[in-house]
Amino acid sequence: MFLIVGGTGAMGSAAARLLLQRGHKVRVMTRDPNRAAALKELGAEVVQGDLRDKDSLARACAGMDGVLAAAHSIFGRGSEASVHVDALGHKWLINVAQEAGVRHFVYTSAFGVSPTHPAQFYRIKHEVEQYLQHSGLAHTILRPTAFMESHAHMLIGQPILETGKVQLFGRGENPRNFVAAQDVAQFAVLALTTPQMAGEIIEIGGPENWTNMEVVRLYERLAGKQAKVSHVPLGVLRVMAGVIRPFHPGLSQVMSASIWFDTTDQTFDPRPTSRKYPMPLTKLESWVEKQVATNLDSAPAVAS
Ligand SMILES: NC(=O)c1ccc[n+]([C@@H]2O[C@H](COP(=O)([O-])OP(=O)(O)OC[C@H]3O[C@@H](n4cnc5c(N)ncnc54)[C@H](OP(=O)(O)O)[C@@H]3O)[C@@H](O)[C@H]2O)c1
Repeated sequence: MFLIVGGTGAMGSAAARLLLQRGHKVRVMTRDPNRAAALKELGAEVVQGDLRDKDSLARACAGMDGVLAAAHSIFGRGSEASVHVDALGHKWLINVAQEAGVRHFVYTSAFGVSPTHPAQFYRIKHEVEQYLQHSGLAHTILRPTAFMESHAHMLIGQPILETGKVQLFGRGENPRNFVAAQDVAQFAVLALTTPQMAGEIIEIGGPENWTNMEVVRLYERLAGKQAKVSHVPLGVLRVMAGVIRPFHPGLSQVMSASIWFDTTDQTFDPRPTSRKYPMPLTKLESWVEKQVATNLDSAPAVAS
């Protein structure tokens, strides 16, 4: 049986569905079981748990063969800040998984992690990778690029579709890589069900690189509307990230990450990973077409 921590999220829920479709038993951990009602309908066992509550992690890990860590708290502040959830919570999860006799731990890290990264979130991900590597627990590390769900849709497409306006952090002219959470979930499921993948670090990205402004133009073209685009200048972002850090570390690290996305090489070549793991990769344009169609279907009808 496999535990998915973050099983209600974009990637974790896709992984849960894939595992259930393939006949595996799945336990989903969430802070609020109501969020996992649809997965429960599909046959998942749902348990209440929180990465900040070590006892709940021990209960969630009991009897598990594999664990997928697919949770994060990048926007968190106060008791939900990354230092508590993404750092300490994940170290606890690794410890209790090991104590429970879990045979394979799959950790979702991120593309570009390093101990000197300008955004704390990516330093924490690196720290947890190191912790896992020294734990003695059999593991696989996934390093995906930016998810289409969050970086293309939530931050760019959705505001355009809903309000006709979007605000970009930075210039939005730097090519970067977007990957579908569903595609990352395919790798997670492969890793969970393939003990020989223990020890692997897999970089995962979509088939092409796009700038944020190209994503804006894509939504405009597919939705047939023009967007009003405003930009938060890089200088303002730099100052704001420093000023708000003590009050809102989540927003601060998102700002720091946005500066990094806008100013450093963010391109990804999926071919080396594809040669080793020939998985189908979703193109951004076909993915956005579906989001636009769903949005048009759910828009209120205009009285004629
Ligand atoms: N989004 C990206 O662009 C991106 C890029 C690279 C890597 N990643 C990594 O990929 C993984 C999945 O990301 P995602 O975007 O699919 O996530 P998501 O949709 O934003 O969902 C976040 C998940 O984290 C869980 N969570 C938050 N705080 C928690 C806590 N204190 N205890 C337990 N669970 C908690 C939530 O569960 P409940 O609310 O149900 O408790 C939810 O299932 C994460 O590790 C993320 O860092 C994401």
